[in-house]
Amino acid sequence: MGVKLGILGLGTVGTGTVQLLQDNAGRHPLLRDVEIYRVGVRSLDKPRIVELADAVLTTDLAAIVNDPQVDIVVEVIGGLEPARSLILKAIENGKHVVTANKAVISRFGDEIFTAANKAGVYVMLEAAVGGGIPVIQPLKQSLSVNRIHTVTGIVNGTTNYILTRMQAEGISFDDVLADAQKLGYAEADPTADVDGLDAADKIAILASLAFGGRIKLQDVYCEGIRQVSKTDIAYAEKLGFVIKLLAIAKTVNPSAITPTLREAAYASTPDHPISVRVHPTLVPKAHPLASINGVYNAILVEGEPIGQVMFFGPGAGAGATASAVSSDILNLVAALQASTATPNALLSCRHQDYCQITP
Ligand code: NDP
Ligand code: HSE
Repeated sequence: MGVKLGILGLGTVGTGTVQLLQDNAGRHPLLRDVEIYRVGVRSLDKPRIVELADAVLTTDLAAIVNDPQVDIVVEVIGGLEPARSLILKAIENGKHVVTANKAVISRFGDEIFTAANKAGVYVMLEAAVGGGIPVIQPLKQSLSVNRIHTVTGIVNGTTNYILTRMQAEGISFDDVLADAQKLGYAEADPTADVDGLDAADKIAILASLAFGGRIKLQDVYCEGIRQVSKTDIAYAEKLGFVIKLLAIAKTVNPSAITPTLREAAYASTPDHPISVRVHPTLVPKAHPLASINGVYNAILVEGEPIGQVMFFGPGAGAGATASAVSSDILNLVAALQASTATPNALLSCRHQDYCQITP
C-alpha cells in the first residue's frame, strides 16, 4: 500500500526530512512505498537544496491538508498559527499527523489530542523534544511502568550552544546567538530560545508524559539566559560549577500524587504536587549534565524502580531532527501497513493526552 506524505514546511527540519527520506528511499523497506506527494512553503522563489518536481511544491497549505490523497501530514512550519489550524484540519480530514512543533503541542495539546481521539488518528511528536533524541516514545512506553519522580533536562540546543561557547571562549551572549541562528538551531524568533520559552514548552510535554497528567505552559516557571554574563560564568567556573539552562519537573510531594490525582488534569494551584521550572542553574562539574556541551541535549529521568536513565544526543539541527521526524513517519507507515486491526505496539501508550489508540 502506498503512503502519501503532505509536508508543511521546507526550512531546516523540512529540508532535512526530505533529504533523509530521499536518501533512504531505496534502502529502508518501509520507505519503498512512501511518496513525498506535496510540500508546502511560503515562497516558491526561494532557492531549495532538495530536488522536488514542480508539482510537489505549493504555497497552498490548506490544499495539502484537504487533499484526500494525503495519508500523513508532517507539520514543520513552526509557530502557533497557521500550524494549529492546519493540524486540526488534517485530523478532521482523517489524516495522521507528525509534528516537531512543541509550542503548538504544549499550548493546544488538549484540543489536538481530543480531536485526534475523535477522528481515530495518530499524532506523533518525537521531534518536538530533544531534537534527534528518542525520548517521547521511551517515556510513553518503555518507562511507563515506573513511578517517575524527576525529569531534569538540557532541552534547548541554542542556549546550550551559547552557554558552552561563552564558557569556553569567554565571549558574550550576543556574539554567539547569530552563529546558532546560522546553524539552524534557533527558532524563527530566537527569543523563544533565549528567554526559556522553548524549554518551557518542552518540559511541559515531558512532565505531562512522565507524570501522566496534563502540565500546562502556565504551570511552568520560566527564566532564560539573557541575564547570564561572562562574569557569572567565570565565577561559577572558579567555584567548581558550570551554568546550564535546566528544565526541571519533579514531584515535590510524591505521596500527594494519588492514583486519582494522576488521572486528573493538574491544575495551576499553589499546592500543586509537581514543580516544573526552567532557569539558569549552577551545575556541579561532576554532575552528568555538566558535561553536555554545544547543541547537545540530555534528559535525566529518575524514578522507581528504574533509578536513573539519561537520554543524550543532538538537540537541534537539520539531520538530527529529521531523524526524529522520520522515525515517526516510519512508525505510522508500519501502522498503516499492518494487516491487523490491533494498534501497533510502538504507537499505543497509557497517556490519553499524548497518544491515540485506534479503536
Ligand atoms: P524554518 O523557519 O527553518 O522553516 C519553516 C518552513 O515553514 C519554511 O519552509 C517556510 O517556508 C515554511 N512556512 C512557515 N510559515 C509558513 C506559512 N504560514 N505558510 C507556508 N509556509 C510556511 O523552521 P525549522 O525547520 O527550524 O522549524 C520547524 C519546526 O520544527 C518548528 O516547530 C521548530 O520548533 C521545530 N524544530 C526545529 C528544530 C531545529 O533544529 N531547527 C529542532 C526540533 C524542532 P519558506 O521556506 O518558503 O520560508
Ligand atoms: N530551537 C530549538 C533548540 C530547536 O535550540 O533547541 C530544537 O527544538
